[in-house]
Amino acid sequence: MKPPLDPWQVVADEFPADSYASDQLEFLLAYAVLAPSNHNTQPWLFRINATDVEVHADRRRAIRVIDPYDRELTLSAGAALFNLRVAAEYFGHHYEVELLPDPDDKSLLARFRLGLRADTGAEDVLLFHAIAQRHTNREPFAPDPLPEELGAALQEAAASEGAWLEFVDGEEARNGVADLVAEADRRQWADRHFRQELAHWVRPKHDAARDGIPVQEAGVQDWLSFAGPLLIRTFDRGGGMAAKDRDIALHAPVLALLGTEQENRASWLAAGQALQHVLLKARTENVSASFLCQPVEVPELRSQLAALVGREEYPQVLLRLGYGPEVPPAPRRSPREMLIQHATAHT
Ligand SMILES: Cc1cc2nc3c(=O)[nH]c(=O)nc-3n(C[C@H](O)[C@H](O)[C@H](O)COP(=O)(O)O)c2cc1C
Repeated sequence: MKPPLDPWQVVADEFPADSYASDQLEFLLAYAVLAPSNHNTQPWLFRINATDVEVHADRRRAIRVIDPYDRELTLSAGAALFNLRVAAEYFGHHYEVELLPDPDDKSLLARFRLGLRADTGAEDVLLFHAIAQRHTNREPFAPDPLPEELGAALQEAAASEGAWLEFVDGEEARNGVADLVAEADRRQWADRHFRQELAHWVRPKHDAARDGIPVQEAGVQDWLSFAGPLLIRTFDRGGGMAAKDRDIALHAPVLALLGTEQENRASWLAAGQALQHVLLKARTENVSASFLCQPVEVPELRSQLAALVGREEYPQVLLRLGYGPEVPPAPRRSPREMLIQHATAHT
């Protein structure tokens, strides 16, 4: 039996072009799982059938304190689905996606069916190569703004998936957003359950886990200002985090808010696909991103955030965009561990 695949090591040339659709779908999953997920929970499971793959929510990996309704979980699965779409296009296949195909099965988020052969477009190639190059980048960014055309292209990318992307414009709005980020940090860190949940997903140095957030990862130590999970669990560092994150928001070359007009599972899946489309498109132009989602996770602050970009509703993800140094990838589990018949619970 082959050893489990590290998805970051996947080699496109090994795509089983002449094999069964089910083998091809299994291969494509290596790209799906490179999508981002909050706390790197990788909260998805897959069931491979003869010509389709089902994308399921893995609720054992839910982060219930900050994401009680599975909004971010569903959004992360949407991002994985977008990677599946891009990979299928790159390998020259049509596909069909059914979102939420079974009203009686709440965990089944999408069914992705591989179709006939198709031509691969230039944009598919660029987006495909960006999948493995995209990493959340928490390092400082150069002060340079993004080219105007790229800003417009990112907005188009979000709109093509049924979401909106607005840039935080002007000093007043930027100060307002930075204040909300800081306020959200203070509120979240004051909650013991938040700290326990975060500590559960932070991985100490040399930990062999293939999920969660490794502290030794570039920028992360700084980001958490901590030596490890024990301290996170024990101390309210809300004040320190708030000051640091406020500063990050104030000095971000670009802050962008991605949102949807509705708030339901279908719009979260749309937001996830839009998020990944935006992140990959940015990456094709060497633009990196990090997330500042705290104010979206605190319900009382969420609508204030929308107002600051001139929208009524529903913010989904706050992003910092800019040019940063290369950073190492966060670990991923092998897709084989995520197949429904092989799934094992996270302990
Ligand atoms: C919906 C969502 C919200 C996130 N929120 C945050 C956040 O508030 N702060 C942060 O540092 N990273 C956040 N992340 C980034 C994840 O921590 C990151 O995707 C994960 O650790 C995997 O790393 P990678 O993106 O480099 O592959 C978020 C990701 C998603 C999908």
